[in-house]
Amino acid sequence: MSDAGEEERQALLPRKEKPSKSSYSATGSINPVFTSSTEKVGRSGSLSGIPKPEPITYSWKNVNVWIGSENGNGNGNEDPESGCCKRRKNGAVSKQILKNVSGVVRPGELLAIMGASGAGKTTLLNMLTFRNTGKLRVSGERAINGVPVTPDMLTSVSGYVQQEDLFIGTLTVREHLVFQALVKMHRHLTYKQRMIRVEEVIQELGLTKCADTLIGIPGRIKGISGGEMKRLSFASEVLTDCQLVFADEPTSGLDSYMAQNVVEVLKEMASKGKTIVCTIHQPASEIYALFDRLLLMSEGRTAYLGDAKNAVDFFRGCGNPCPVNFNPADFFIQTLAIQPGSEEECQKIVSNVCDTYDKSSEAQEVQVYQIKPDILLEIFFFI
Ligand SMILES: Nc1ncnc2c1ncn2[C@@H]1O[C@H](COP(=O)(O)OP(=O)(O)OP(=O)(O)O)[C@@H](O)[C@H]1O
Ligand SMILES: [Mg+2]
Repeated sequence: MSDAGEEERQALLPRKEKPSKSSYSATGSINPVFTSSTEKVGRSGSLSGIPKPEPITYSWKNVNVWIGSENGNGNGNEDPESGCCKRRKNGAVSKQILKNVSGVVRPGELLAIMGASGAGKTTLLNMLTFRNTGKLRVSGERAINGVPVTPDMLTSVSGYVQQEDLFIGTLTVREHLVFQALVKMHRHLTYKQRMIRVEEVIQELGLTKCADTLIGIPGRIKGISGGEMKRLSFASEVLTDCQLVFADEPTSGLDSYMAQNVVEVLKEMASKGKTIVCTIHQPASEIYALFDRLLLMSEGRTAYLGDAKNAVDFFRGCGNPCPVNFNPADFFIQTLAIQPGSEEECQKIVSNVCDTYDKSSEAQEVQVYQIKPDILLEIFFFI
């Protein structure tokens, strides 16, 4: 890349700060986002004086998701190996789309959820964020710092960056953020604190250059670029400085340059101690290298959850060596995909990888992050 290009790219990146090392406590409790409205200078050293919220470890355990009418004994303990579909007496089919998945993401980590089409990525993200679960039956546990989480609790401490955000195209970037700050930020904050936070966020997300540009309406008003729009979505979510951020396909529709830029923004957020989860489609090698942790899904099961840099070794260990000079992300997705015409063979490979993962040290590590024993709660939803 040319020097000028690199300079421009750096200008787009958020301000570099010394990365804060993760300081979570697996047994810590959830503190509300604003712990002290009287504190003048936040722990973050932020000019707005807004106190920094507690870091978040988010864990999920033995989660199963079905679509369709109630199946089997309906207690959520069906054997994930026993086939995913059951036909009831009245002919209705119940299909299991997530099978006993467990996982954890900790402060300071950028976790990428990857897998072939239909693997269950969106279902997992929806389940983790309590979104679009209307027709699904979900069983299992979800916890923040060891405390079982409710939808309201999650909403108060997390942000969700949608794949397609809706903006008012006739507002400028700054006007949009001012509006968001007025409606979204905590009611105890003063107008001045909100405006300072808006300016901080504009700077952090590299939106200074386009702060006074109209967002635009495709085909009618030329506005900011696709990458800037994506960063604006993040900006709206990080105004409240939430410590847990979910992003669904944050790079889709962007060129490779902008895609990398957006993932670098996520990485930067993680390096400040936030907990970041995103789903992603076929990232380039450079983007893949930015992920701390990788969650591979296949056929509704966890095929791998561990350090991204160890995934190639894991696949080699279960008989699937990644060819030299091959993008590891492409290799994992291809290995875990069910190819039309060779379903049986592919399913064998997938079962082998998932079974190997279930017995691995990575899977054991995930089991450490469980709901506090004194408040252990088996949650069964029928929403
Ligand atoms: N509401 C639903 N009704 C029926 N089947 C569903 C429903 N939601 C998900 N599925 C099925 O569950 C499986 C997983 O779907 P999901 O959308 O989670 O996959 P994905 O990994 O996000 O795929 P993609 O990469 O194509 O977005 C698919 O086979 C899908 O058809
Ligand atoms: Mg999806």
